[in-house]
Amino acid sequence: MALDMTSNYKSWSKAFSQPAQEFALTNLPILSGNIPVGLRGTLYRNGPGRLQRNQQRVGHWFDGDGAILAVNFTATGATGVYRYVQTQGYQEEEAANTFVFPNYGMTARGGFWNNWLKPVKNAANTSVLALPDRLLALWEGGLPYNVDLQTLATRGIDNLASLSKNQAFSAHPKVDRQTGEIFNFGVSVGSKTTLNLYSCSAEGKVKQQNCVELKGLPLIHDFVLAGEYLVFFIPPVRVKILPVLLGLKSFSEAMVWQPKLGTEILIFDRHNLDLVARLEGEAWYQWHFTNGFVDDNGLIIIELVRYSDFQTNQYLKEVATGKTNTAAKGTLWEIKIDLKTKQIVASTQLLDRGCEFPVVPQHLVGKSWDKTYLSIYQEGTDLSQELLNAIACYDRKTGRLSIADLGTNCYPSEPIYVPQPDNLNQGWLITVVYDDNDHRSEVRIYESDRLESEPVCRLGLPSVVPPSFHGTWKSGTF
Ligand SMILES: [Fe+2]
Repeated sequence: MALDMTSNYKSWSKAFSQPAQEFALTNLPILSGNIPVGLRGTLYRNGPGRLQRNQQRVGHWFDGDGAILAVNFTATGATGVYRYVQTQGYQEEEAANTFVFPNYGMTARGGFWNNWLKPVKNAANTSVLALPDRLLALWEGGLPYNVDLQTLATRGIDNLASLSKNQAFSAHPKVDRQTGEIFNFGVSVGSKTTLNLYSCSAEGKVKQQNCVELKGLPLIHDFVLAGEYLVFFIPPVRVKILPVLLGLKSFSEAMVWQPKLGTEILIFDRHNLDLVARLEGEAWYQWHFTNGFVDDNGLIIIELVRYSDFQTNQYLKEVATGKTNTAAKGTLWEIKIDLKTKQIVASTQLLDRGCEFPVVPQHLVGKSWDKTYLSIYQEGTDLSQELLNAIACYDRKTGRLSIADLGTNCYPSEPIYVPQPDNLNQGWLITVVYDDNDHRSEVRIYESDRLESEPVCRLGLPSVVPPSFHGTWKSGTF
């Protein structure tokens, strides 16, 4: 049902109080500053746009139907378009005017008989991958949807030339900008659980696959490209699958935190996708990695946002209700792995500050980097009640944190780094901000090395675009 906003809700919840409204291609008004001359291309962002249908709320933030925002920058100005991904599940539920499918955090109405062996809805709501001829709307439980780069019209499921309909193509692919290779994974559930690895061409065709069997059914959201290696940290969360298959529980409800299992680390060779090492670490949980590389001593260096347990899932569930009560503090860590001894040789907390969505410039994925861009909580924020409310840059060499003060009651999306055309190491950070002071959303562009200054440009959006998950930048024209 619609949220009753009269009873002590925080500002961020108004962004989710009604389903997000699509808008057609629109010229975006400049609210302040100017569009930088070198900024030419398109920002794409994906996230749950609809958290309710016909008086029923979803069970978890991850259940919302994917809605994609595209903002295109040209010499004559900026345009925006915002569209729901027309998934099969979205269309069926739109026609029925009720939720029909079970999902990550909810079972369908009607109990056992309406849920038993019913497929989970592919919400296509987590991220996007921009390919030369299409945009993929990504979701970690299945194949992506093919979306038009310019109009965001949905063209249907995309199997990347060779995947089967039961395979998944997860929401955190890694692109090597030098070689054009795209790496990704998907977890398959059957008589045994397998981690499927993919190496794809720059055009989005799967060229090579491998798979390894996993112990139980873990939750794997992201992985790392580190030099010659693909690295997975498998957290000690396991899905007790029987109640899910019986339709009695959602996946989220069936997940159990089992810290005694520790974190299992799998390391693969990126060239042949062979498993080269399997080792163990202490128990922690992570959604996202910043990046990874191999240093001069041959150590694999990985940065991530690390949680001490799985309470983050409860917090994200509560976001869908418009009111949270669970504090879940993820902080920035660095892990060093010695492949010769197959051991973690160092685990260091870099920053004792609640944060999420760490990113690096796309040309540095898999390579050494100096600056991590991320979303963060302003000092003094009550993490149990609030959403991320600032963006920042963490300098790995100096340890300095530069924060963009967005203003009160303003909530950013994950910052996206866009390089200048003639110097990849200089660029801009783009974020989409929900401003509750006027109940509207805008695009803000910052110089990446001057976050403490005013944004160089602010652009108004025609309707509220709620805080979303992930996005990307595609340079040039369509
Ligand atoms: Fe993610």
